[in-house]
Amino acid sequence: MTKLITVDGPSGAGKGTMCQLMANELGWELLDSGAIYRVLGHAAYTRGIDKTDVDALVDVALKLDVRFINGQVILDGEDVTAEIRTEEGGKRASDVAPIPEVRAALLQRQRNFATDAGLVADGRDMGTVVFPDAPLKIYLTASAEARAERRYKQLTEAGVEADLTDILEKVNARDEQDMNRATAPLKPAYDAVTIDSSNMTIDQVMSEMMNLAKQRDLI
Ligand code: DC
Repeated sequence: MTKLITVDGPSGAGKGTMCQLMANELGWELLDSGAIYRVLGHAAYTRGIDKTDVDALVDVALKLDVRFINGQVILDGEDVTAEIRTEEGGKRASDVAPIPEVRAALLQRQRNFATDAGLVADGRDMGTVVFPDAPLKIYLTASAEARAERRYKQLTEAGVEADLTDILEKVNARDEQDMNRATAPLKPAYDAVTIDSSNMTIDQVMSEMMNLAKQRDLI
C-alpha cells in the first residue's frame, strides 16, 4: 500500500496544522503545495513578471529552485518563508494558481514528493488531480464562520487589529475563487472522507485522521 494521505479543503480549515502534526506523528514527509504556489507568485512578483504572461510564468515554474528545509522555504538559496506567508503572498499565489499551464508545469514537481517513506500532501487538488490513486483522501473543511473566527483569534492574539466581518467576507471571497475556477477547482475527490472541523478540537481531528489511516492499513 502506497503510504500517501491527501488532505484538501478550503483555506483556514486547519489543513496546515493537521498535516504537519500527522507527518510528525507518522514520521512521513510533508508536501505543502500551497507554499509552492506562494513561492511561484513571489518569484513572479520579484522578477516583474505580469500575471498575464503565461509563457514567462511557466518558465519560472519549471525552473523554480525551491527547497523545504525544517519548515523554512528556500528560493534560489534565500529564505522567503516570512514573505510568502503574508496576506500579500497569498494574493500573489492566488493570481498564478488558476492558470492551467502553470498548474501543469507544477504537477510533476509535486508528484516527486511521494516517497516510500510516506507523504502527507496538503492542498486543494491533492486527491483530485495530483495523487488520484492515494489510498486515503481527506477533505478537511469547516464553516466559513468558524474559519473566520479562528483567523480573527490568531490575528488579535498576535496583537494585530482585525475586523471579524471583514475577515468573513475575505474567507467567502477566497472560497468562491478556489471553488469556481475552471482548472482543478476545490472540491472533495469522489472517494474522499469529509471531516468538518467546525466544532472539533485539534486532538479530535487528529484522532479521526489517525483512525482513518489505521482503517486503510496505512499504519
Ligand atoms: O493553502 P495556501 O493558502 O497556502 O494556498 C495559497 C494559494 O494557492 C491559494 O490561492 C490556493 C492555491 N493553491 C492551489 O490552487 N492548489 C493547491 N494545491 C494549493 C494551493
